[in-house]
Amino acid sequence: MKLKMMKLCSIFFLLTGAAAAPSVIYPFTSTCAVQGSTVTLPCSFTPLTFIQDDGGRKVQLQVVRVVWCKNHEICQGETPSVYDSKSPQKPGFKYLGDMKSNCTLQISDVQKQHNSTFRFRMEVNFTKGHFTNKTGVNLTVIESTQMRINSSQTEAALPRGHTLKLHCTSLCTFHQLKVKWYRNAHALPESGPALQLSSLTPEDSGNYTCALSTNEKTKSLPYRLKVEEQKGSSAGQSLFLILGVVFGLILILIFPLIVFIIIKRKRAAEDSKGEQGVTEQKISEVEPSGDGNDVQYASVQFNHRRQNRRVEEEAVIYSSVVRG
Ligand SMILES: *[C@@H]1O[C@H](CO)[C@@H](O)[C@H](O)[C@H]1NC(C)=O
Ligand SMILES: *[C@@H]1O[C@H](CO)[C@@H](O)[C@H](O)[C@H]1NC(C)=O
Ligand SMILES: *[C@@H]1O[C@H](CO)[C@@H](O)[C@H](O)[C@H]1NC(C)=O
Ligand SMILES: *[C@@H]1O[C@H](CO)[C@@H](O)[C@H](O)[C@H]1NC(C)=O
Ligand SMILES: *[C@@H]1O[C@H](CO)[C@@H](O)[C@H](O)[C@H]1NC(C)=O
Repeated sequence: MKLKMMKLCSIFFLLTGAAAAPSVIYPFTSTCAVQGSTVTLPCSFTPLTFIQDDGGRKVQLQVVRVVWCKNHEICQGETPSVYDSKSPQKPGFKYLGDMKSNCTLQISDVQKQHNSTFRFRMEVNFTKGHFTNKTGVNLTVIESTQMRINSSQTEAALPRGHTLKLHCTSLCTFHQLKVKWYRNAHALPESGPALQLSSLTPEDSGNYTCALSTNEKTKSLPYRLKVEEQKGSSAGQSLFLILGVVFGLILILIFPLIVFIIIKRKRAAEDSKGEQGVTEQKISEVEPSGDGNDVQYASVQFNHRRQNRRVEEEAVIYSSVVRG
């Protein structure tokens, strides 16, 4: 019970303790913009929610004013501002945040005079609760820049199927980089700072360039990519190897077949010699008897013999029958 109370107390203390320190966070404390472009300064804040007044009473706080100014340490009072929730909007500056936690500022058509440090200030309904984070965001404005392409591959000629990643960078360190990519001066659909080309085909070959989407003048020098068909020495060697194996197999299969055929032919030739002898013998056997049945028997015998000699045999039979 006592422990639980202590825990509750410490949680309460932590909560009030956290609330006692307002904060403003600039995720990027320095950013870069090319003249004429639009830049966003991301920002988030946590205001005080309670404060103890001089009489020791707890006062609930509310954000009553948010301000962005440039080149001023704390931005208080009548300091010239670029945005003030209590004043009319200034051209070129747009507050994308709110009165609770988001203090993002957008600057369009960036000019040389914007090359400075921007700071955000929040004011609540109690003077002690006002807060400015002096760190600020340094905005560097450059007249123009030439983007550069960095490649994940050192070789500009790659075989088909490989993957290539191109990065569009600049001397200026940009965040939220929006770029346009081109191949042979034709715009590609990709818009991120990195262009990934996977399963390369020869159609991917060409001259690649990139530029900030807000400024064509920043176009990079071309990166020349050549995708080669899978030929090369190793491919040629493997083709030879395959051909060799196939040829070898054919030889191994065909050689015995040829030998077999030759042997068969030889035997067949020997057989047919013997056959002819038999035929002559049979015919000579048939001849003297002159019996029709014998002739029929002979022809049946002949029909079992080689087909290609049939015509000849039939002629013999015919003649023998006629003679018979
Ligand atoms: C001021 O801003 C910097 C940069 O975002 C941050 O690191 C720091 O914590 C902030 N300080 C306060 C008190 O908000
Ligand atoms: C603040 O607002 C901007 C613009 O609406 C938005 O892009 C950004 O994500 C917001 N930031 C946070 C921390 O919610
Ligand atoms: C403004 O530009 C100058 C160079 O012209 C540079 O040295 C300086 O750091 C820039 N200021 C800020 C706050 O970025
Ligand atoms: C911003 O610029 C000021 C002066 O121009 C410099 O003192 C400070 O270190 C810079 N901050 C960052 C984060 O570059
Ligand atoms: C790419 O650029 C080179 C010179 O840098 C040029 O010779 C070649 O024709 C270009 N290729 C295409 C497809 O435009």
